[in-house]
Amino acid sequence: MIILVVLVVILCLYLAHWRANAKRLDRATASLPVPPCLPVLGNAMIFLGDGEKVVKNIEDIAQICYKNKGAVKIWLGPKLYVAIGNAEDAKIVLENCLDKDRVYRFLRPWLGRGLFIAPLNLWKSHRKVLLPIFHNKVIEEYLGVIGERAEILVERLSKEVNKEYFDVLQYVTACTLDIVFETAMGEEMDVQHSTDSPYLRARHTVMTILNMRFFKLWLQPDCLFNLTPYAKQLRENIAYTHKFTDEVVRKRRMEYERNKSISTEQSDGKLRAVLDMLFDREIKFTDDQLREHIDSITIAGNDTTALVIAYTLVLLGMHQNVQDKVIQEQEAIFGMSKRKVNKDDINNMNYLERVIKESMRLYSVVPIIARKIDRELYLPHCGVQLPAGTSAVIGVFGIHRSKAEWGPSAEEFDPDRFLPERSNERHPAAYLPFSYGLRNCIGRNFGMIIAKTIISNVIRSYKIDATGIGPLKMEILLFPINGHQIRLTRR
Ligand code: HEM
Repeated sequence: MIILVVLVVILCLYLAHWRANAKRLDRATASLPVPPCLPVLGNAMIFLGDGEKVVKNIEDIAQICYKNKGAVKIWLGPKLYVAIGNAEDAKIVLENCLDKDRVYRFLRPWLGRGLFIAPLNLWKSHRKVLLPIFHNKVIEEYLGVIGERAEILVERLSKEVNKEYFDVLQYVTACTLDIVFETAMGEEMDVQHSTDSPYLRARHTVMTILNMRFFKLWLQPDCLFNLTPYAKQLRENIAYTHKFTDEVVRKRRMEYERNKSISTEQSDGKLRAVLDMLFDREIKFTDDQLREHIDSITIAGNDTTALVIAYTLVLLGMHQNVQDKVIQEQEAIFGMSKRKVNKDDINNMNYLERVIKESMRLYSVVPIIARKIDRELYLPHCGVQLPAGTSAVIGVFGIHRSKAEWGPSAEEFDPDRFLPERSNERHPAAYLPFSYGLRNCIGRNFGMIIAKTIISNVIRSYKIDATGIGPLKMEILLFPINGHQIRLTRR
């Protein structure tokens, strides 16, 4: 009985503290609008329903943002999020608050303290050490691998020529998996020829369950999640993927140690993967840390790049005039040759780069970014002093389509927005496909090189047709509900 009374008292104190804290945060942000909300749950309904409904709700919030001060308050239970739909405030948040929001904790059992979700103190030193590996000069070394894998993609696509519309994403994803695995950890997975493997299945299961946890609020508290069969499934599949990466790390470390003891002439001239370069950095990473970084890189780098490529291919199919210009540029570089792309070619694909950038604007594959506000922060555009303890959600999708940032034609596909003279006029944080500030995407140049190479190979072989992209759904990334449908004919 006494225990029960004590528990009730603790619960009451907790609720009173929760309420007082919520009131304080609410008062501090009183000038911001709030979409209609329920008691206790707040605006949690935004994330109820399927991915299409979530996108619709996010679009509605973006509208409230546009009509007001470019920011909206959202309550998820006791937690206050300020959703930001303007470039100025997004810049302030992304420059000043580098720690990820608590919502990313669901990734912790999988990615540990890998770069993507590393806590700030650790992130600072590790990012410094990883940064040189993603320098253009280093990743250009991977053009050979990227080119080979792109040729296999072109070959695999030949079976779709002159057929009906098909979803190109699955083909592109297999190709980017091959590229990212080989360059990140030196493993030739050859997913393009064997699309099914226990490792890929485990990876897929982990992603599906994590995605559910992000968007199904009742699966968020550990005490409820652990009651579902998903908890065990998640544990087992994470363990399987860890075992795979652990094995690769162990094998490559042995090779690294062996090669260290022989002269460079004797070494086998194998490709130096990101993992190999991580063995001899200023920080001596443990094998667990290496696994966490490599898993983070392959997970953050693969589906994002595949989606960017797939959206761009569909957009090229929808805009034949743009496709013609891309082809003109390709012919100026390659003539009629199907040869591999080299680094000069990459630098000469200026128009294709504008096309990819415009594709990433309209279809920002990472549609929202959430940051922890760890100190008081003044947001000049909406005129609010954000209290520490809140979180900010940067509405990348909304900012990319905002008329205030992009003018009246914001919804139209116009690659020439990215001509240097037009880009200079824009707010630097109006364009955030790779986030902004010090914690932006470390692989952005790598992603661009992969995208340019693959699109160049595909477009030199095939003419693309597409009718549209249709409704979108939000999982952790942004997907079209009906897939990336295109039709191919041979050039
Ligand atoms: C072209 C496609 C890509 C897009 C659109 C993209 C987008 C992003 C975005 C928006 C973030 C920040 C996420 C956040 O703060 O919540 C990020 C971080 C990251 N990306 Fe990318 N990315 C792409 C390609 C890549 C590639 C190819 C790699 C590596 C092979 C990579 C590795 C990473 C890593 C490791 C982080 C975490 C960085 C940190 O916290 O310091 N990304 N990416």
